Amino acid sequence: MTSPAAVSFVDVALDQLAETTGKIAVFVPENGQLGLSAKRINRLTRGAIKRFAESDMFAKMSDGDAREMHMPTGLVADSVIVVRLPRRPSVDLARKAGVSIAKLRGAASVVVTAGSIGRAEEIAMGVVLRGYSFDDHKTNDSTDLGAVTVMVAKPADVEAKAMPLLAIADGVFFTRDLVTEPANILTTTEFANRLVEMEKIGLKVKVLEEPELEKLGMGSLLCVGQGSDSPSKVAIMEWNGGGDEAPFALVGKGVVFDTGGISLKPAAGMEDMTMDMGGAGVVAGTMRALALRKAKANVVGLVGLVENMPSGNATRPGDVVTSMKGDTIEVINTDAEGRLVLADVLWYAQETYKPVGMINLATLTGAIIIGLGHENAGVFSNDDKLCGQFLKAADAEGEGAWRMPLAKAYDDLLKSNVADMKNIGGRAAGSITAGQFLQRFVQGDQPWIHLDIAGVASVKAETAYAPKGATGWGVMSLNRLIADNYEA
Ligand code: BES
Ligand code: MN
Ligand code: ZN
Repeated sequence: MTSPAAVSFVDVALDQLAETTGKIAVFVPENGQLGLSAKRINRLTRGAIKRFAESDMFAKMSDGDAREMHMPTGLVADSVIVVRLPRRPSVDLARKAGVSIAKLRGAASVVVTAGSIGRAEEIAMGVVLRGYSFDDHKTNDSTDLGAVTVMVAKPADVEAKAMPLLAIADGVFFTRDLVTEPANILTTTEFANRLVEMEKIGLKVKVLEEPELEKLGMGSLLCVGQGSDSPSKVAIMEWNGGGDEAPFALVGKGVVFDTGGISLKPAAGMEDMTMDMGGAGVVAGTMRALALRKAKANVVGLVGLVENMPSGNATRPGDVVTSMKGDTIEVINTDAEGRLVLADVLWYAQETYKPVGMINLATLTGAIIIGLGHENAGVFSNDDKLCGQFLKAADAEGEGAWRMPLAKAYDDLLKSNVADMKNIGGRAAGSITAGQFLQRFVQGDQPWIHLDIAGVASVKAETAYAPKGATGWGVMSLNRLIADNYEA
């Protein structure tokens, strides 16, 4: 497991700066006015910071950007990272500054001289989030991240603000690890085991095995994993930090590998389908964050864990299966499997918990990548209030989210000749017909959001808070949604 870097908050100690090893980060505002720490570094380096602040290079930087001065005279440190930042940065800017520091520090330890700079806890959050590297399977090449020490005026106050943020970062890393882990290691059983491990941090975890899923009538979910040697499972994580109110439910698609089944995917790029459990990964990471920061809310996370493989026993195109709800489904394309998994888990969640709100997450359609690229997840909802709450939370966290439509005309495209519905619409509006399919398993006026995260769960270029690869998109937004609207 990848652990976030250790962060400590300490009093400003100007006299230690000359002897500090590793790297030192200092902040300079646009007007070049140096604070106490920057002044001290400037004096020790015989004016280097001032020269930099007056340079063209500095003038061309944006707020939150940083540059590195290597092997500075007068310091033991290997480099000084100069960050351009106003003294009272926004959350966005503070995190951006932290990300800039993380990129330049590499694995070295760093002392961040934040003094009286505002939102030092968010700067630390940026450093931690960007400092992710998955090297569990690199035998000779593992990154040992150096410590992050933040010098601030009131370390105890800043630390108190940082604690919940670092819990969230831990959840984000948990999600990124799950998304990155290859499918021969992260089998359905291994995934469930990692969730059961979280009982140690106070979650109640239950795993439903195939015989129970059959008894429940989850023919839709079960038909997806039918061709795989890995058993299908539904894992349930409960966090009961609130009173006796009904919980909020988070539901995730956990296809540990998606070959497409008998409707086999092309070979090129198929390895990317190790991330097809991304929805379940975000649910797990969010539950972890809520537990670690002891959220005062009731939240239940449910994930459908299956593997979509072709075999002599696999579901065929044309097969008709019966969902837990009782509706029958004609499986036209075995590669439209995520919705088959979610249908039964959504139904189970509502029957069992009568949740106040329900959000499902899934790497559901390639079409959402065509529509929104890698900048925004697709947001589909039957409830303007819940949807508004989510979009606001996502905006505050800098995680892209864009609302998409639902309407009867799209639902009509799911009509089947032999069953209650078929599992695909057609080429047109592929992400919306997938959403319509899910909505058939949402009861009456149950407030619900479907998040299609196929474009944002894992990205081949670096993103705002993550190096290339798994992003953990959604953990921060969902955590904030709960914190802002469902916590006592
Ligand atoms: N897991 C895929 C969607 C996906 C594609 C996720 C690319 C991440 C990146 C999903 O199960 C799938 O195969 N969807 C099909 C649906 C189609 C058969 C209607 C798709 O998008 O092509
Ligand atoms: Mn598929
Ligand atoms: Zn899939």
